[in-house]
Amino acid sequence: MQRIVLLGATGYTGTLVAHELVRLGARPLLAGRSRDRLASLVDDLTSVTGPRLETAIADVDDPATVRALVEHGDVLVSMVGPFVRHGGPAIEAAIDTGAVYLDSTGEPAFIRDVVERYGPRAHAAGTALLTAFGHDWVPGNVAGALALREAGDATTRLSIGYFGSGGGGISGGTRASAARVVLEPSYAFRGGRLRAERVGARVVTFELGHGRRVRGVSAGGTEPFTLPALAPGLRDVDVVIGARTPSLRLVPAATAVLTGALRVPGLGPRVRRVLEARSTGSSGGPDAARRARSRSHVVADARDADGALLRRVRLDGPDPYDLTARFLAWGALRAAEDGVRGTGALGPVDAFGLDAMLDALREAGVRIR
Ligand SMILES: NC(=O)c1ccc[n+]([C@@H]2O[C@H](COP(=O)([O-])OP(=O)(O)OC[C@H]3O[C@@H](n4cnc5c(N)ncnc54)[C@H](OP(=O)(O)O)[C@@H]3O)[C@@H](O)[C@H]2O)c1
Repeated sequence: MQRIVLLGATGYTGTLVAHELVRLGARPLLAGRSRDRLASLVDDLTSVTGPRLETAIADVDDPATVRALVEHGDVLVSMVGPFVRHGGPAIEAAIDTGAVYLDSTGEPAFIRDVVERYGPRAHAAGTALLTAFGHDWVPGNVAGALALREAGDATTRLSIGYFGSGGGGISGGTRASAARVVLEPSYAFRGGRLRAERVGARVVTFELGHGRRVRGVSAGGTEPFTLPALAPGLRDVDVVIGARTPSLRLVPAATAVLTGALRVPGLGPRVRRVLEARSTGSSGGPDAARRARSRSHVVADARDADGALLRRVRLDGPDPYDLTARFLAWGALRAAEDGVRGTGALGPVDAFGLDAMLDALREAGVRIR
């Protein structure tokens, strides 16, 4: 089995991934910028690992320290965000050495960079980049691919919605990344091609039957990059994040005003500074009791050119952070044991196949309908 290196292991998500990996029997190298925090994580894990896990100091502000972590054939998992600010050194290190790379990002601007800029370089180097291998955006890829497989060639539109229930909560790292997401460009797959579109540009409604409807606002996702290749007739892919608040309908106007403000000389940089200053990570996240009450729900609707629903796939699973830890641990272990199908920037279904991903979701506690 190849070595697994966890960068950002001492963060909120990194700690969950480290616990999940050792639960599955792996012995990852834990990397981070603080010797003390690494030592305390190793202490916490020894009841499961027995002999202490190895650690390494690496700081993304000193890329050579990140490069020194990995060797050819390793699996590098990065959870150091916001990725538009901190993500480059890990991905460069993976391409440089020929390590398989996974990350926990959900940020559209970074995802687009991975696919369009780093992907071809990784392909040339013979290695694979699996970006956004967490709750954002693995389940939508799997639900979308299953809906496409079962609905057949008549599908022209896929609408994928991510919803939550039970309260949950978000981590400091997610808050920091979210502040960056609204500042950066995004995209959507519309009319058969990828188009620039700001996050939150549209409200999408899902009719769940018996008069029940849920709504969400458009987000980037990885689905616009990965799913069109599976269905040549696909013209539109909507990826939305749901919310129950009545003010959801105001989001498109609010994001339009923000995007406009960012373009105004003098004002733009100030707005940017205010939002960036609010984005501080490394401040923890929902505890186990809170996560135990929270649930994730994903819907993928495949429709034909007349708008008729051909297939709806529904996923219901545990809290998004628990799912993120389980997906990243599963993906890293699978890549370390059996490798990955293909090179370059790959979606989860490209990398492991739909049936293996369906098994991964079930193992993670997701019910698939
Ligand atoms: N896709 C999804 O569904 C999903 C789910 C969860 C998280 N995420 C994303 O994953 C990222 C991490 O989230 P989180 O909640 O774990 O955040 P976090 O608790 O703030 O963790 C960030 C990690 O990055 C490390 N870090 C920060 N600056 C660094 C530097 N200069 N060099 C090396 N390491 C550095 C931190 O180190 P210290 O421990 O030393 O502070 C910490 O380990 C965020 O971008 C978040 O949006 C996505």
